[in-house]
Amino acid sequence: MVKICCIGAGYVGGPTMAVIALKCPSIEVAVVDISVARIAAWNSDHLPIYEPGLDEVVKQCRGKNLFFSTNVEKHVSEADIIFVSVNTPTKTRGLGAGKAADLTYWESAARMIANVSETDKIVVEKSTVPVKTAEAIEKILTHNSKGIKFQILSNPEFLAEGTAIKDLFSPDRVLIGGRETPDGQRAIKALKDVYAHWVPEERIICTNLWSAELSKLAANAFLAQRISSINAMSALCEATGADVSQVSHAIGKDTRICPKFLNSSIGFGGSCFQKDILNLVYICECNGLTDVANYWKQIIKVNDYQKNRFVNCVVSSMFNTVSGKKIAILGFAFKKDTGDTRETPAIDVCKGLIGDKARLSIYDPQVTKDQVLKDLSMDKFDWDHPVHLQPLSPSSVNQVTIVWDAYEATKDAHGICILTEWDEFKTLDYQRIFDRMRKPAFVFDGRNVVNVEKLREIGFIVYSIGKPLDPWLKGMPALA
Ligand code: UDX
Ligand code: ADP
Repeated sequence: MVKICCIGAGYVGGPTMAVIALKCPSIEVAVVDISVARIAAWNSDHLPIYEPGLDEVVKQCRGKNLFFSTNVEKHVSEADIIFVSVNTPTKTRGLGAGKAADLTYWESAARMIANVSETDKIVVEKSTVPVKTAEAIEKILTHNSKGIKFQILSNPEFLAEGTAIKDLFSPDRVLIGGRETPDGQRAIKALKDVYAHWVPEERIICTNLWSAELSKLAANAFLAQRISSINAMSALCEATGADVSQVSHAIGKDTRICPKFLNSSIGFGGSCFQKDILNLVYICECNGLTDVANYWKQIIKVNDYQKNRFVNCVVSSMFNTVSGKKIAILGFAFKKDTGDTRETPAIDVCKGLIGDKARLSIYDPQVTKDQVLKDLSMDKFDWDHPVHLQPLSPSSVNQVTIVWDAYEATKDAHGICILTEWDEFKTLDYQRIFDRMRKPAFVFDGRNVVNVEKLREIGFIVYSIGKPLDPWLKGMPALA
């Protein structure tokens, strides 16, 4: 029986291994983590991450061929294939601070693998890492190997949160990069055989190590670039009276452009896009490619611009001050159908409004109070360290309350900001909400979820990103 061990029971490791276990009953899969709390949650009825369909998959295999454990060394030493899916935060100090990936967790995992291994192993990079990490890891492994053979593969994960199980069941492609040596090719074949249990052969792409590592960064940079492009257009739409949804629809009909990833928003979030682009920028700079680095930097600049623009719009529309005013924040997760808040644009928007002394009442169907408070008091990039190394949630962040209902959040509020596109925000009883708000009542829709006309009929002043401006808002100085 082939044994697989995955180091890191996070958003990538957990669901990916659960699906491998489900699709490969003949393989034993162990997911290990240094976080006792995380492993306890994976072994409980309340999994540590919210992901549609994940509960059922875990229930079907847990205790049969899927195990969650803190006994990292035991499972690593017994495994034939080791996936490494640990944190790769952005460095906050020293060389490359604010851009380069901090490979501390990766390096310590690699040294531990070398220490405890007694048989040959295939080590698979699963977390996104900078190009050439495999080479560095290979050096650590082979220089500490006591004669054991290690083959390193890059097998980047392309799943998106909220659709992780669907993406894993039916991936557009599986990418495996390895050495072009006979041993390297054998390792690629071994991993290919795992995926071949359910992924059609033509969707499994095999490349060299560096192409696989770079393809992951490139894919995320291209996706983020589409969002920044449409968000840049949204500003122009507001200035000219065009409607960004109509523009997206029209350009998306071109099969070369395609309709996906053209939804204008307050900006992209999530654990990957910004981090991977910063990484890409750093690699370009290290290779003397300044113009290429500047090109990719611009994607992040536009993303930050979009979040600032939104905050400016809220403040300037409400008579240039939100000081002491209650603002309801609907949605905090970085997108719908996930409880994940890593790099969510809601953090920057909330911090911007708090900076202008607003009182915030926040509601998100999946994000806990503790998480929101932690996020609002954490420094940039701190979120990407193992949970036990993150700051404890402060007992209070002044000016912020977290409630469990959209109606409670909006009661007596002066304005509403919609920051995540949860489906339930489309069908709220906006008349009821309007009746209980201060007047004039504002809605700032950062995700284009509400029916603008209907809300204006009720009496709201509505700003919806990239849509023709409400007559009330026309001429507001800070909207440019
Ligand atoms: C992304 C990639 O899609 C995935 O392939 C990779 O493995 C990890 O990074 P994820 O971060 O889970 O996945 O979410 P994604 O659906 O890509 O959305 C990222 C952000 O972009 C979200 O904040 C989302 O709201 C935003 N977005 C997405 C838009 O603003 N507009 C769009 O049209 C699409
Ligand atoms: P991702 O989104 O890439 O899956 P996460 O932050 O959700 O990232 O998960 C990474 C996990 O890796 C965390 O649960 C963390 O505790 C774990 N981890 C980090 N370093 C180690 C290590 N050396 N051994 C075991 N687990 C580790």
